[in-house]
Amino acid sequence: MESHLNTTLTRSRRSLADRASRTFGKFGVFFRGFMEEPGMVGSIIPSSRFTINRMLAPVDWDNCRLFVEYGPGVGTFGDAVLAKMRPDAHYIAIDTNGLYVDYLKDSIDDPRFTAVLGSAADVERIVREHGHEHADYVLSGLPFSTLPDGVGPQIIRATHDVLRVGGAFLVYQFTAVSRDLMRARFTRIDSGFEPLNILPCKLFWGWKDAE
Ligand SMILES: C[S@@+](CC[C@H](N)C(=O)[O-])C[C@H]1O[C@@H](n2cnc3c(N)ncnc32)[C@H](O)[C@@H]1O
Repeated sequence: MESHLNTTLTRSRRSLADRASRTFGKFGVFFRGFMEEPGMVGSIIPSSRFTINRMLAPVDWDNCRLFVEYGPGVGTFGDAVLAKMRPDAHYIAIDTNGLYVDYLKDSIDDPRFTAVLGSAADVERIVREHGHEHADYVLSGLPFSTLPDGVGPQIIRATHDVLRVGGAFLVYQFTAVSRDLMRARFTRIDSGFEPLNILPCKLFWGWKDAE
């Protein structure tokens, strides 16, 4: 009885998600990803342009050769990052969701951009495999509160190690869980808040200082 109910719920969730992705384009694809993996996606709607602008404001684009993004979803930050990036810089976007990675590969046609199916926890290997030693900036839209146990701290460690000295980890989240995790590695963390987002969100910039 219970398994019949679960199957019926899964089917109706899937058909709602399919209809949404056909009808609402980019937003529909995002919503479909949420319906399939709610804990990994963590939000039903992409970030606002206010969050994008505020989050990227401290980036020194002239000195950015490699920009990495975790959890790009349907590429909410993609146009803004590519518009500001140097012509010879690279942008690697890493997401665990194959639906999103396929969408990014189909929709972003820029030689500086690469979408990778994988986990942020493997950022060091991914960066090396793409011919770089370090990242200048790493942006994260990951839902740290709902990631599987141990994954959050692993991502913070790997991110600190992959960044060059002077680089930064840019993080936006509905809660401050990410900042609490960042404190294990980042000694200097700036904070901000963006009310014009669904839901209003907290912003953190963790700077990698010389040891
Ligand atoms: C809240 S969505 C952010 C979407 C988008 N960046 C935005 O601002 O609209 C979180 C994203 O993180 C991805 N994700 C979850 N765990 C991940 C991991 N370990 N590595 C990379 N991406 C992950 C999900 O698939 C989803 O695309």
